[in-house]
This record gives sequence, C-alpha cells and structure tokens, in this order.
Amino acid sequence: MQDYKGLLAEVLIPEDALQRRIAELGAEISADYAGEELLLICILKGGVMFLTDLVRHITVPVEFDFMAVSSYGAGARQSSGQVRIEMDLRVSLTDKHVILVEDIVDTGHTIAAVLELLETRRPKSLKVCSLLDKSERREVVVPLHYRGFDIPNKFVFGYGLDLDEYWRNLPFIGVAKTD
Ligand code: IMP
Repeated sequence: MQDYKGLLAEVLIPEDALQRRIAELGAEISADYAGEELLLICILKGGVMFLTDLVRHITVPVEFDFMAVSSYGAGARQSSGQVRIEMDLRVSLTDKHVILVEDIVDTGHTIAAVLELLETRRPKSLKVCSLLDKSERREVVVPLHYRGFDIPNKFVFGYGLDLDEYWRNLPFIGVAKTD
C-alpha cells in the first residue's frame, strides 16, 4: 500500500489548530451545561478521534456511547439520504441532555435521520456538535449547535475520516488528491 503522502493534496487543518479548536469547543460545552450531566453520542467510526479529544476538555459529568450508521444506495463518497442503523446505543436517552458528536456534516442527510430517530427516545435536550461542516453542500437543514471548522467542498481525510477505511489515525485533516 502506498504512503498517505501520495494521496494528500494539502494539509487543510494541522494538528495544533485542530487541538486548539477542540479545547475551545470543550470549554464552550462545559459552560453551557454547567450544573448538569451530559451524554455524548459518537457516530462511528469517523467521530471517534474527535470524541476522545473533546471529552478531555469537558468539565461537567459526562458519559458517552456509540452508534454506527451507514448510508446506502450511493457511492462511498456520496450520501444517499437513507440511513441504516448498524449498531445501536446501549444507554437510554430519556430525560438526558444529549449531544450528538459527528466528524463532518456534508449534505446533512445522515445527521437529520439520526436526529429524527433519537428524538423519539425523549431526551431532555438534543444538540449537535460536528468538527467539520461542508456547509456549501447542505441539502437538508440541520441544527449545528457546535461547529469546529467550516471547510470547502473537497474530500478530506485523517483525524477519524477515512480514505477507503485507512488513514483515520492521522492527527491532521488533509485534502485527498482527486486525480
Ligand atoms: P452527509 O449525510 O452527506 O452529511 O454525510 C455525512 C457522512 O459522509 C460523514 O459522517 C462521513 O462519513 C461522510 N463524508 C462526507 N464528506 C466526507 C469527506 O470529505 N471525507 C470523508 N468522509 C466524508
């Protein structure tokens, strides 16, 4: 397998900028939920690096759980608007303050479908925190309460986001070569 450097057009967000912004988001969330308890829901696999760094900056009592969803009927680089739950949560959301943690909101279909599902479980509140926002690609309106970076319409990888399942472990966000 070739090294990621052959697949990388440019580093979009270097590690230090990512970590600085994540610390800010953690502080903002901690202030907003002061005196409360919080449940963070991470959507696998892309959100996992972000979640684990974000929780280190949250000072209120926090639990977290994971779910996995997949889009179907579309290519790997395009969301179809139909979402299947591959792995569900183990915890109950009833009467809890919940934040859904995502790596990236692109067309918005994934988050919109997951929010609709989670609302039926009667959380006390439900917000969305996404590290990246490709806002110019949005097809459905989604409430994005906490956002790390607005990024251009380019395919990115690293820091949880994959290129054919590899390179999620890179500590920065890079733009993939299009060739
Ligand atoms: P949406 O339903 O179009 O908002 O797509 C969201 C999902 O598409 C994300 O959770 C990612 O898994 C994937 N995705 C969208 N854009 C990118 C990208 O640039 N790199 C890697 N994955 C992406």
